[in-house]
Amino acid sequence: MTAQLNPRGDVAVLVPAAGAGVRLGPGRPKALRLLAGEPLLVHAVRRLAAAPSVHTIVVAAPAAEVAAVRDLLAPVAPVTVVPGGAERQASVAAALAAVPAGPEIVLVHDAARALTPPEVVESVAATVRAGHDAVIPVLPVVDTIKEVDAGEVVLGTVDRATLRVVQTPQGFRRAVLSAAHAAAADALTDDAGLVEKQGVAVRCVPGSEYALKITRPFDLALAEHLLAGGS
Ligand code: CTP
Ligand code: MG
Repeated sequence: MTAQLNPRGDVAVLVPAAGAGVRLGPGRPKALRLLAGEPLLVHAVRRLAAAPSVHTIVVAAPAAEVAAVRDLLAPVAPVTVVPGGAERQASVAAALAAVPAGPEIVLVHDAARALTPPEVVESVAATVRAGHDAVIPVLPVVDTIKEVDAGEVVLGTVDRATLRVVQTPQGFRRAVLSAAHAAAADALTDDAGLVEKQGVAVRCVPGSEYALKITRPFDLALAEHLLAGGS
């Protein structure tokens, strides 16, 4: 069954999915690793497609897997698949270049955050729609954080009350994200970082523990457990 994305939606979602997954250990590119019998990317795209605001989804796949990813996602949702780049930022830029005219809100969402609930997508999109140029989902920091020197000696304790753990989807007014990518010099690990360098204010909204980034084997085991619990 083919999910129909909402033609009246105003959001394009870029899905960087071209990473190798080195920290997950040897195997297929991370977005194609199985979670409860299905690739991480399938879980991620299914949840994006369930968000009513989403008009367009563009996936940046590993260059060698573009055809395989198209076949994989065809029964899940109508998506555009492009080859990604060597860095996450290049993959996002490639996906951004493939967004058709229309959607004026662009979200960037890691395939590795495969269990992100559609409600987070809607909340980020709604906050951009309400007038914020850049919006990120965050969680509070629960651990005590120390700064250390090169010798692993503590320099001091950071006030965690002012810190946030940052997730995706990150949402932007389309022109703001395009300008930030066009001006990008260094490769950063998130898109809000590029926008910050442009002097644009970035607004935080509540994220979700289900939006964890599946990075190491423990995360994959945790995600399996969460799915088994019916999330
Ligand atoms: N990503 C991408 N293109 C790259 C590198 C990363 O599209 N050249 C994507 C990944 O597929 C992932 C997201 O960016 O969905 C976040 O990256 P990360 O969790 O670091 O995934 P990997 O780079 O695959 O993992 P690792 O760093 O362990 O190799
Ligand atoms: Mg990486």
